[in-house]
Amino acid sequence: MSGWTTDEMPRLDGKTVVVTGANSGLGYEGTRAFAEKGATVVMACRSVDRGERAADEIRRESAAARDDLDLDVRECDLASLDSVATFGEGLGDDYDAVDVLCNNAGVMAIPRSETEDGFETQFGVNHLGHFALTGRLFPLLEAAEGVGGDARVVTQSSGAHEQGEMDFSDLNWERSYGKWKAYGRSKLANLLFAYELQRRINDPEGGDDPEGDDPGLRSVACHPGYAATNLQLRTAEESGNPLLKAGMKAANAVLGQDAATGSLPMLYAATADVDGGAYVEPSGLMNMRGTPTVGRSNEASYDRADARRLWEYSEEATGVEFSI
Ligand SMILES: NC(=O)c1ccc[n+]([C@@H]2O[C@H](COP(=O)([O-])OP(=O)(O)OC[C@H]3O[C@@H](n4cnc5c(N)ncnc54)[C@H](OP(=O)(O)O)[C@@H]3O)[C@@H](O)[C@H]2O)c1
Repeated sequence: MSGWTTDEMPRLDGKTVVVTGANSGLGYEGTRAFAEKGATVVMACRSVDRGERAADEIRRESAAARDDLDLDVRECDLASLDSVATFGEGLGDDYDAVDVLCNNAGVMAIPRSETEDGFETQFGVNHLGHFALTGRLFPLLEAAEGVGGDARVVTQSSGAHEQGEMDFSDLNWERSYGKWKAYGRSKLANLLFAYELQRRINDPEGGDDPEGDDPGLRSVACHPGYAATNLQLRTAEESGNPLLKAGMKAANAVLGQDAATGSLPMLYAATADVDGGAYVEPSGLMNMRGTPTVGRSNEASYDRADARRLWEYSEEATGVEFSI
């Protein structure tokens, strides 16, 4: 495979990187790569046990000497706004700055359920939890030197955003529920959020100025293509359909790239010379696999009116306002 790899990542000594969903799949591989480059990685996991086990495994398997890796496992359940707030407070107490925040955790196409705060789970975890987390960590991001001159907020979306449609009359899927439609909408929401964050950083007055002054913070979106991780297996498990599990395993084995390759767009978005507001995706066949490149998401994801509306809803729903 040619193209950008982790070899091209800069050293990250003295940098603090927060990764959600760090115990599994893309978050696990991203954590390993950031840590091997010298960063302190805060592993934001919904289960501290699973996080500690993952941290031990990374230390055991890492190419770098065990003691060189600085991994800090903390509880952050994105299905609970209280948990996100507590996580944010803890980080504020213990860290002066956050150089990179990777909004990576997610669930895909699960049966309808609700978060602790009563939001449909895919929308609540994939979008609202990360919205609240980013807002809570914003002062720490503003305080950071960042990477390449700017702190970075990296938001992991999916090619499935193309199947997403915003319906502001039923964001929580109370009238009807399609598990794949809800996944698509949550991933479209990730993009609307990532691009709107960049617009607000560029122009806090709410204008459309895409350039703005030197903002000191870049919001970059990405998607991994198709990577074989627990994501598909959880979808199958929660469906209760044994055939789906067998099918997902087979599809992962045949079509999926490994999780380390799937984590490259996130790592590129976090450390390479990429503009705020960019969309990083795999460069290979149908953008499903391969090394990262800057691409373009669908038209709906750049809809400014939807982005504003989602932002306003998210502020009200989570009670979190950004200090931009
Ligand atoms: N793999 C792909 O092909 C693919 C394609 C497109 C987009 N993505 C996106 O990539 C991201 C990472 O997925 P992955 O493939 O690495 O899947 P994964 O292996 O299943 O990892 C998902 C991570 O999210 C965590 N998570 C789930 N619910 C959470 C919650 N309530 N609070 C905090 N963390 C929670 C999981 O924790 P537990 O282990 O505790 O469940 C796990 O650490 C997701 O946003 C997904 O939508 C993946």
